[in-house]
Amino acid sequence: MCGIVGYIGNQKSMPILIGGLKRLEYRGYDSAGIATICNAKLVINKQKGKISELESSLRGVNNDGTIGIGHTRWATHGEPNTINAHPHACCNRKFALIHNGIIENYAILKKELLEKKHQFESQTDTEVLVHLIEDYYKQRSDFELAVRKALQRLDGTYGIAVICSDEPDILITARNGSPIVLGISDGEYFVASDPTAIVAHTRQVSYLDDNEMAIINRSKMVIKTIDDRPVEKRVEQIAFDLEKIEKGGYPHFMLKEIMEQPQTVYDSMRGRLLEEEGTAKLGGIEHEIHSLLHSGRLLFSACGTSWHAALIGEYLIEEYVRIPVEVEYASEFRYRNPIIDRNTVVAVISQSGETADTLAAVREAKRKGAKVLGICNVVGSTIARETDAGVYLHAGPEIGVASTKAFTSQVTVLALMTLLLARMSAMSASVGRTFVKDFKQLPEQIEKILKSRELIKSIADRFVHKSNFLYLGRGINFPVALEGALKMKEISYLHAEGYPAAEMKHGPIALIDENMPVVVIATKDSTYEKIISNIEEVRARKGKIIAIATEGDDYIKTKVDYVIYVPQFSEFLTPILTIIPLQLLAYYLAVKRGCNVDQPRNLAKSVTVE
Ligand code: AGP
Repeated sequence: MCGIVGYIGNQKSMPILIGGLKRLEYRGYDSAGIATICNAKLVINKQKGKISELESSLRGVNNDGTIGIGHTRWATHGEPNTINAHPHACCNRKFALIHNGIIENYAILKKELLEKKHQFESQTDTEVLVHLIEDYYKQRSDFELAVRKALQRLDGTYGIAVICSDEPDILITARNGSPIVLGISDGEYFVASDPTAIVAHTRQVSYLDDNEMAIINRSKMVIKTIDDRPVEKRVEQIAFDLEKIEKGGYPHFMLKEIMEQPQTVYDSMRGRLLEEEGTAKLGGIEHEIHSLLHSGRLLFSACGTSWHAALIGEYLIEEYVRIPVEVEYASEFRYRNPIIDRNTVVAVISQSGETADTLAAVREAKRKGAKVLGICNVVGSTIARETDAGVYLHAGPEIGVASTKAFTSQVTVLALMTLLLARMSAMSASVGRTFVKDFKQLPEQIEKILKSRELIKSIADRFVHKSNFLYLGRGINFPVALEGALKMKEISYLHAEGYPAAEMKHGPIALIDENMPVVVIATKDSTYEKIISNIEEVRARKGKIIAIATEGDDYIKTKVDYVIYVPQFSEFLTPILTIIPLQLLAYYLAVKRGCNVDQPRNLAKSVTVE
């Protein structure tokens, strides 16, 4: 899940590449590099660490090259260092290549090339490909053919871009499994892993599909399959503007995205609530709604935060629509040989729409004849294009690696889906209308919670020296406990676990003493009495308790150490509110611990490799 960018045109490529890499840094940030062709010579600059280090190493470097490629890395093969950073060059230094993905048969290919006296500098799988291209080019000086032949030898996933100093007017890019978007402008073309890297230059884009390549010069772009069949591509419009991918005055994208949630939840509902009919409208799945309603089984599949949203979808749909629902980790689903038939509807959830495990779950479910729906945020993403139907979140680009606004929009869309299906089954119009009213109050209720961020900050400051956290919730708030724990793990690097509160006494209670902070979601709903008994169990063992409670609940103040209130609200939509204080708690604690909140160590925003 690296970030790749390329440019061919009449402008100096170096600043365009660096600008694009900065936009893609959330995809991987352990090392970076660029390659340009300057005076028919390949010029490669690479650095360990962030783009800013590469940029400062290039200060004062005069490079007039108008063709180039750039890469920001998330290491899979070979540790993060300058040697293993991309671009990689071949023996004769004529080809430079960048790659996002994993070449599974690289060891076999490397052995073959070593026997042909190729010399390798790095420990990466990627370097094998540039030597393979060099090898085919030696046989026949045809850049496109050499790239095609080399790609046909690969097992694995790739999004690549390659340039050649003998062919300074051609840039070639290709994909199989990892996303590639092509930016089209007047006399110049852009290549990137996602549109955020090129929106500053053009909003006209086309998306490569698997086993496709583009051969680009300054006047035209030809798209073909890897086995040389021409492909016509639709030109689409990027749906967001630059302002959407700026920090907007906030210190971190994560805080900006947390604070955006009144608007993004509103945007996820916009035009989808029918007040009069007391129902919801989801155009993207309208033509599949009956197969969903009459499906014998709905199976959600996702990863990480999206998987937590799916768990809430399970509660909602089983409660209000009475369809059996299962939730599967996509990474397990794809290898577990699940029972899938024509009567099963599979719904995958993915913010990026590029997560490799979730994409594989889509393909496995389709192979087995299931109808496959998608709930995605990134417009034009691979999962959005490969599913039979779906719903976009409209939450706008999410740059912070720790997902926040996408989660609340995912739960909003799942709740809209539930209302739509429930109104088509047992729910009356009058009950539906009360639900619609509740939906409409969401942005304002979120605003209220965001106002208590200073309180949450002061609570976080008191726990900065702790090394573990336990999160407890019941019913529909159990997945919220899981999500709260994931946020804390991701950005503060503290060990945190989410648990169904009643499950605590079957083991985790052994962890509790005066050094164990316990975050309990204890809103006034159908499980309130039970959660209070769980709080008593923690208190009895001197655990320090932070409670997420319902405004006006003075009783709970007598039972816990810290209370963060959320407005009284319908149980149906409560997770959209109760997660917000947990996002802020993790954020402020991570900032206090000096962690890199937007680019937490070892993580990447979109996991495009297995
Ligand atoms: C969440 O904060 C993480 N970034 C991660 O768990 C993420 O949810 C997971 O990788 C799934 O991503 P997706 O929604 O883009 O498929």
